[in-house]
Amino acid sequence: MKKRIHLKPARFEDRKKAYEWLYFSDFSSYLNELTAETSEGAVPTLSQFKEDYAFFFFDGSRPEKGRAYLIILEDPNFKEEIGFITYTAFHLRDGIAEIDIWLKSLEYAGKGYGTEALKILTHELFKEKYNTIIIRPCLENVRAVNSYKKAGFKVTNFQSDYYKKEYLHQFAAGDCKNGEDLFMVLKK
Ligand SMILES: CC(C)(COP(=O)(O)OP(=O)(O)OC[C@H]1O[C@@H](n2cnc3c(N)ncnc32)[C@H](O)[C@@H]1OP(=O)(O)O)[C@@H](O)C(=O)NCCC(=O)NCCS
Repeated sequence: MKKRIHLKPARFEDRKKAYEWLYFSDFSSYLNELTAETSEGAVPTLSQFKEDYAFFFFDGSRPEKGRAYLIILEDPNFKEEIGFITYTAFHLRDGIAEIDIWLKSLEYAGKGYGTEALKILTHELFKEKYNTIIIRPCLENVRAVNSYKKAGFKVTNFQSDYYKKEYLHQFAAGDCKNGEDLFMVLKK
């Protein structure tokens, strides 16, 4: 039977593995090179990661700010956690959310799993109060850009009016080295 992807709300005890999958996996050195923070220095500590991914991502207490999920791959005889996906909304205007996603290893990439997870989460967000989803991959991360296009995202110019005024300065530049990211948008 075909393996199926579903999302499971992440819990506090999942935080360390999400951190390790991001910074200590077989794609991490590649991704760290593309990312502004890590291309210039050390990888963030787990404590720093916990500051970025605060309690509400893991306890569901502030869905208007964001939530994290484990990506699960399963068939009737088999179940495995294969990645991590979040939406974040506290920094954006009403109705807009931003997605981040990473699988735990390249072994699982290129098989459609990440794209399927994106489709599931965006579908769920559109059933809630969200009508616009953004994602900001680094330009050189072709695998990610291809996946997001397959999930329906379109490359557009940076939209400063998507951001709450007080957060624009902090988030405008994006996470990629030399501001080299693509601003991609999916509308309901
Ligand atoms: C980005 C990511 C979530 C995408 O999920 P995925 O399951 O790998 O995506 P898919 O398999 O659906 O699609 C990837 C596409 O890129 C293509 N691709 C794969 N490897 C590629 C490569 N090295 N160069 C260019 N394209 C590549 C695939 O062929 C596929 O397109 P296709 O289905 O049209 O052939 C996943 O690859 C990942 O976690 N990567 C490492 C972490 C990362 O980069 N996270 C994103 C940070 S913004």
